[in-house]
Amino acid sequence: MTALTLSTSAAPGLRADAIVIGVAKGAKGPVVAPGAEAVDKAYDGKLAGVLETLGASGAEGELTKLPAPAGFKSALVIAVGLGTVPDDGTGYGAEALRRAAGVAARTLGGAKKAAFALPVEDAAAVGAIAEGVLLGAYSFDVYKDNGSTAKAKADKAPLAEATLLGGKPRDAAHKAALARATAVSEELNRARDLINTPPNDLTPAAFAAIAQRAAKEHGLKIQVLDDKALTKDGYGGILGVGSGSAATPRLVKLSYTSPGADKHLAFVGKGITYDSGGISLKPAGHNETMKCDMSGAAAVFAAVVSAARLGLEVNVTGWLALAENMPSGSAVRPGDVLRMYSGKTVEVLNTDAEGRLVLADALWAASAENPDAIVDVATLTGAMMLALGSRTFGIMANDDAFRSAIHEAAEEVGEPAWPMPLPEHLRKGMDSPTADIANMGERMGGGLVAGLFLREFVGEGITWAHLDIAGPAFNEGGAFGYTPKGGTGSAVRTLVRLAELTAEGDLG
Ligand code: BES
Ligand code: MN
Ligand code: ZN
Repeated sequence: MTALTLSTSAAPGLRADAIVIGVAKGAKGPVVAPGAEAVDKAYDGKLAGVLETLGASGAEGELTKLPAPAGFKSALVIAVGLGTVPDDGTGYGAEALRRAAGVAARTLGGAKKAAFALPVEDAAAVGAIAEGVLLGAYSFDVYKDNGSTAKAKADKAPLAEATLLGGKPRDAAHKAALARATAVSEELNRARDLINTPPNDLTPAAFAAIAQRAAKEHGLKIQVLDDKALTKDGYGGILGVGSGSAATPRLVKLSYTSPGADKHLAFVGKGITYDSGGISLKPAGHNETMKCDMSGAAAVFAAVVSAARLGLEVNVTGWLALAENMPSGSAVRPGDVLRMYSGKTVEVLNTDAEGRLVLADALWAASAENPDAIVDVATLTGAMMLALGSRTFGIMANDDAFRSAIHEAAEEVGEPAWPMPLPEHLRKGMDSPTADIANMGERMGGGLVAGLFLREFVGEGITWAHLDIAGPAFNEGGAFGYTPKGGTGSAVRTLVRLAELTAEGDLG
C-alpha cells in the first residue's frame, strides 16, 4: 500500500513525480483551491486562467495535467476537480477531498512519489485525503503476473509514496487522523482483495483460514465451526446452502473485546463465496460476478479488525456465514424443508434465495449473546439494486432511531445509503403450507421481503438493522473517485463509524 507522510514543506522544493492540487468550480470559472498557493505564485498568480485555457472547470472527478513551473523539483502538476466552491466558511467537504485525492491517486499508478497540496483545514481533511489516496491507489493484479515483465508490473503498481502537504507531522489530531485512515483503508483494501479473489481460490475454508491468521495477528478470539460442528449444533440454513458444493461451509465467529467497554455490537456478514443460484440456477449473464456474494462477510471481517487496530472501547463480534451455493446431486432442492438453528423450519422455494438462509442461522447465533445491537450486511437481493441503483445500499431495521443513526453514520463517512421500510403486509407472502416460513414471497418489493425474512431470526427485543449492499458491493462499471472496478469494500467505513459512535456512547 501507498506509504503516507505529513509534511509542512513547500511544494517547489519537493522532489516528486507530481504535485496534486485542487481546482474548484467558481461562478466565473475555475478557482485554485487553498493549499496550492505556492504553485499558483510560480505561475504568476495566473494558474486559474491557465487551467481554464486547458479546459478545466473544477467539476468533481475532472483531472488536468500541466507541466510544473520552472524551478520546481517535480515535473508535473495534476489539478483535480473539487466541485463547486463552498459557501463562505464551510470549507471543502470531506467527501469532495476524498474523491479528488482518489482520482489523482488512481492516475498516479506506476509513480514513485506524489505530493498532495489539497486544502487542509483541519484533521478531518487530513483523514479524508489520506483515505482518498489509499483507497484510490488500490489495484488487484495478483492473477495478472504470468509472463509480464518487471517493468510492466512496476507501471501498474500503486503509487508508492504520498506526502500530504499542509498536514502537520507533530499535531496530535493530524497524526491520529492519518493513523485511523491508514488502519481502516488497509483493512478495506483487504476486503476488496477477498471480494476480487476468484471463487475457486476463496472457498469457505480458505476465507476462514485467512480470518484465523488475522485473529492471531491482531489478538482477536476466533471460533470456526466446520461442517461437522455445524451439523452437531443444527445449523440447517448454512448446511442446506452449502450442501451442493464440494467446498464445505463454515461459520466464523471473530471477537474483539476491549477492557474498557460496556457495549457490545454484533456484525453479521453474508459470505457466499460463489452464488450459482443452486438448483434454481442463475442464467448466463447473471453469474459472472457472483464471486462478490461474500462482500458482506468481507466488510464485517474488515470492520472487526479495524476496531481492534483502532483500540475502540467497544466489544465487537463478527459473524461470517460462509458457504458456496452450487447445484449437484447433494444440493438442496426447491421444495426441501430445512430446520434452522433457531428451530424454525423453512421451505426452500428458490435455492437462489440462499443469503437469507445462511444469515438466519448467523443472526440467531449472534442473538444468543444478547448484544446491544446487531447489524447484518449482505449482497442480498437484485431487487434492492433495481430500487437504489449500483451505488447506494438500503438500510432496514426493527428500530427507526437505529436506522436513522446508521444512515447518518453512512453519510458522515461518504457512503451513499437510504432507509427502506419493512411493510408488515409483505410477511404473509412467505406463509408456507408445509413449514413455518418459505424463503421467498412476493416478487414486488423483493428486498423488503428478504428483510422481513431476516427479522424472524433476530432474538426477541434485540435492536437490529440490515444493510443490503447488492448494488454498491461490486463495481461493474469504470473506476470513479476512490472506487475501483470490482470489489469496493462497501459498508466497511459505515460499520467502523458505528463502532466508534458506540464506543463514544453516541449510539444506543
Ligand atoms: N446474491 C444474489 C443477489 C444479488 C444480485 C447480489 C445481483 C448482487 C447482484 C441473491 O442471492 C439472489 O440471488 N437473490 C434473488 C432472490 C430471489 C430468488 C428471491 C434475487 O434477488 O433475484
Ligand atoms: Mn442467490
Ligand atoms: Zn446470493
